Order: sequence, then C-alpha cells, then structure tokens
Amino acid sequence: MDGYKDFTGQIKDLCKIDLSEYKEKQMKRRIESLIKRNGLSDYNSYFNLLKNSDNHLKEFLDYITINVSEFFRNPTQWIVLENEILPTLISKKKKLKIWSSACASGEEPYSVALLLAKMGILTNADVIATDIDTRALEDARAGVYPIKSVVNIPAQLLDRYFIRKDDIFILKEEIKKRVSFSVLNLLNDKFPRDCDLIICRNVMIYFTEEAKDKLYKKFYDAMLDEGILFVGSTEQIITPQKYGFVGIKSFFYKKVKLH
Ligand SMILES: C[S@@+](CC[C@H](N)C(=O)[O-])C[C@H]1O[C@@H](n2cnc3c(N)ncnc32)[C@H](O)[C@@H]1O
Repeated sequence: MDGYKDFTGQIKDLCKIDLSEYKEKQMKRRIESLIKRNGLSDYNSYFNLLKNSDNHLKEFLDYITINVSEFFRNPTQWIVLENEILPTLISKKKKLKIWSSACASGEEPYSVALLLAKMGILTNADVIATDIDTRALEDARAGVYPIKSVVNIPAQLLDRYFIRKDDIFILKEEIKKRVSFSVLNLLNDKFPRDCDLIICRNVMIYFTEEAKDKLYKKFYDAMLDEGILFVGSTEQIITPQKYGFVGIKSFFYKKVKLH
C-alpha cells in the first residue's frame, strides 16, 4: 500500500508520535490490517478518518502501541533482580530511584513494588512508571487485573497484596500508592535523572536501530554511576560498551564511567 511516508508525517503532526522511528515493515503490516478492517484501502482516506474521529484515533493508538504485559514477565529474570540486583543497589544507598519506562498497564512497576515489599524495603524506593499510552496508564492507576496477568505472582504475594473478586484481582492501596504514573514518549520527551534502576522491556523491539542507539545514550544519561538497565528477553544490547554499559547478567547492564 502506498502513502506510508506521508502518513507518518501527518500522524507526527496530529499526535506527536514519530512512526518513522518504529520498524517500518512491522508497523506497516499492523496499520494496513487496521485500514482494511475499517473498510478502507489507502493511507490517505484512513488518515482523514483518524483526523475526524476520536474513537478511531484511540483505536489506532491502542493498536499500534501493543500493551501486552503481565506481572513478573519472564520469572527467572525477576529472581535475578530480587536476589542479586536489588540487594546490591540497596546496600549502597538508602533510597533508590527506579523507573519502569514502558510500563503498559502497570504490571511491571507493580512487580518491582511487590518485590520491594517482599524484601521489606518498600519505602526505600521511589518507583516511577511511564508510558506513551494514556489509556494504559489509566488502567495502571486503577490496578485491577484479570487472572492471566497475575499467574506468575508468587502465592504469598498474591494473597497478601490483592483482593480477589471472582477472576479479578484488585491491587491493594499500600502497593499502588508506591508507584507514580505519568505519560512519557521515549522517542521525544525528557528523561528522569539520577535513576538507580531503569527497566525498559519489550518496547525496544519495535524501534529502528537509529532510535535504539539514541535511547541507549539517553538511558545512560538518566542513570547514576553503577546504575542498572534491565532489558527484555529479546533485547540484549549487542555492543554495550559502545554506550558505557557492561553486561553483568543476561538482560542486566551496569553503567560504567566513560573515559
Ligand atoms: C509490549 S508492552 C511492554 C510492557 C512491559 N514493559 C513488559 O515488558 O511487559 C510495550 C509498551 O510500550 C509502550 N510504548 C510504545 N511506544 C512507546 C514510546 N515511544 N514511548 C513510551 N512507551 C511506548 C506501549 O504503549 C506499551 O505499553
């Protein structure tokens, strides 16, 4: 289907999302299936639809952002976080700053808060969580989850910190209030500073190599020395030293000083 390049420019003007920084083949496939689903056959008429209908614009943003997540996604990596990364970080500092940078509906930052609670250090960390998608953030603030999101939560944490109503799990306020949510576009916006731990998982896969390069540099600047970057299962950094990181465990990178 022709017209993708013009469409990306129009979308950037309309909603400040630069699709040209997302992998083109993947993005085109997703958008073109949405165009067809709406009974249209070209980008131009689809853009006119988006421009004139908030509902269709919401549907579009929802579809391209892909919010799939779950608590303790890839559980073995969270065991490393609990047993090695967090104890080392907290041994050096009284209060940690932890940033979940593409937090979807909150499963990831709340998993961190649950671990902190389990370790008895819940109040020793500020957990900030951001995403580009305002609808996902609304769900995150609500903290209500279906059974499929919570399957990896250890039973004692599930019993202690959730209220169960049939197949719905409601996160208790004592965990919810430890995480603050806000909108942040990784490709555009200013990053937080002085983070001890940045979690960026299952979003880099959608970005172009140029966008990733820019992001790793921005993550470096957003961290304190010896801060840790926790990435997704298919998102290992091929040349971490190029960005001032050293791999310390699979999926965990430590910031070193650049000379
Ligand atoms: C597949 S989810 C990953 C959620 C969680 N990190 C995990 O690993 O389970 C990808 C998330 O990235 C967000 N996202 C996509 N583009 C983004 C951008 N430019 N800036 C910030 N978040 C973005 C989406 O809205 C979505 O919530």
